[in-house]
This record gives sequence, C-alpha cells and structure tokens, in this order.
Amino acid sequence: MGTVYDYLKLHPVDEETLEPYLFFSRNHYTRNLIFKNDLFELLAICWEVGQASLIHNHADQNCWMTMPIGKLRVQNFRVVEQNELTGHCRLEPTDAVDIYNLLPAEVDPEEPVHQVLNLREFEERAVSLHIYSRPFDRCLVYSPAKAEYSEVQTHYTSEYGKLNEGGEVVSRGQE
Ligand code: SIN
Repeated sequence: MGTVYDYLKLHPVDEETLEPYLFFSRNHYTRNLIFKNDLFELLAICWEVGQASLIHNHADQNCWMTMPIGKLRVQNFRVVEQNELTGHCRLEPTDAVDIYNLLPAEVDPEEPVHQVLNLREFEERAVSLHIYSRPFDRCLVYSPAKAEYSEVQTHYTSEYGKLNEGGEVVSRGQE
C-alpha cells in the first residue's frame, strides 16, 4: 500500500497532461479511463460543483487518490449490518477528510465504504486521479435512507481520451 502512496507523493502529476481525459457533465460526475492492465487502472474523475458519488465500496480492491484540481470531501462509513439475503444494511458515518493540492489519500481496506463529494461550499470544479488495484467493474452501493444496498455496474464516460456513447458531456477540458 505504502509504495503507491509514496509514489504519488513523490511524483505530482502535471495538470496539463490530464487535458485529453477531462470531460464534465451537468448530470453526473464523469469517470475517464487513462490506463488499464490486469493489475491496476487509472481514472481521472471530473466533478462539477455539488456533484457526489453514491456511498459505495470498491469490491475489495485497493484505491489511491490524488487531487490535481480542486478539492473533495471523502466521508467514510462503518457497515454496522449487512444482510446478503435481504439487502438490508445499516451504516454509521465515521471520519471525513478533505483532499486537495495533490495530496494523496488511500481507501482503508478494513473500512472501505465511503462517499466522495465536491461540496457546493468548495465553489469549484474538481478533478481527482484514482488508482484501483485490481480494476473492478461492479461494486456495492448503499442507501442509508432506505437501509438498503445492492450491486451496480461501473461505467467509463470516456476511455483513453475518447468519449463513450451516451456520455452526456457538456464540456471538454477545463472550459
Ligand atoms: C467512483 O469510482 O465512481 C467514485 C470515486 C471513488 O470512490 O473512487
């Protein structure tokens, strides 16, 4: 775990190199694949002000993040109950951290359920880089309001700088 974290700390990304992978949508944050092999995938995720992920896990895979543009809040949760047969769950919020200024962060493999938010009060778009090892295409999403969870498929808005069908992107790059 430490190796990737330290690598990100020692090798801050040059914001300009991300330009081909930046797509923003008013409807949803966008997930943009930069690189993928059997071991890991690297995504640039673009967040308009106010956009947030659902509360989710990462299918038992490791995740590291760094913030080349803007700021995000990562809110972590403890799963108090999770029933595979009924889909019932109960969560409790635990700690929250703000990530910005190229500081790396990692998802705790012991307590991996979290939500990522570009809060309105941050007042700017954000771009986060995510390394998932290994890559995954399904994860669990949790709704504390309904006390339910279910498995969903993940999608890429763009792959290697090319927009996928139905991406509903309103702007490319930082403009
Ligand atoms: C996502 O992958 O869709 C959300 C960002 C994350 O938690 O890594």
